[in-house]
Amino acid sequence: MKFFLDTADLSEIEEVASWGALAGVTTNPSLYARTGGKLEDFESHLVRICELVDGPVSGEVTAEDRDGMIEQGKQLAALADNMVVKIPMCVEGLAACRALYDEGIDVNMTLVFSVAQAVLAANAGARYISPFVGRFDDICEDGVSQLYDIVNALGNYDFGHPVEIIAASIRSANHVREAALAGADIATVPYGAMKKCVEHPLTDRGLASFKADWEKVKNA
Ligand code: E4P
Repeated sequence: MKFFLDTADLSEIEEVASWGALAGVTTNPSLYARTGGKLEDFESHLVRICELVDGPVSGEVTAEDRDGMIEQGKQLAALADNMVVKIPMCVEGLAACRALYDEGIDVNMTLVFSVAQAVLAANAGARYISPFVGRFDDICEDGVSQLYDIVNALGNYDFGHPVEIIAASIRSANHVREAALAGADIATVPYGAMKKCVEHPLTDRGLASFKADWEKVKNA
């Protein structure tokens, strides 16, 4: 499973990219708003992210009709070679996804919550499909089992083009574990949860004892 960072914050991206294990970035309008970014700076901000990351970067359309989504999608895709157009799951989104696929543009279909939506997205040409996990948990439903169902269902078919499942709306290291066990191709993880994935108390304890023992060697 590959790791994407789910953020539009440049310093978070820069830091995690330096760890050497980052394969891409996903953004959405809420994440960009959180940076305090202005409308006129949106595209240059995405270009900067594309420069920082050696991998696909998802930028989301905000138009609500298919023609607007297609126009915005083409504009976003032209910003950088590694730009992926993120489109929300809905009838207009499916139509726009198909049109962009026909133009050779990679689409990440977002806000996917069911097997039926995921299969439709794959048939419309989506290169990436993003089932949300945490938002199910927020309403006391089981996001992880939904993810398992989507991974299993899509695995039954060859859609005639590459399709990768991005486990999205990840809130914890346990969600990352579940995404990997479910067989998701990618987990897109916010900065805080990404840092938690690195940590383990037994790692800390092990490091402390190695350090203490090395002091004994040095003083022997
Ligand atoms: C997916 O690409 C979305 O940006 C993201 O994972 C949404 O996560 P949230 O439910 O924590 O907002």
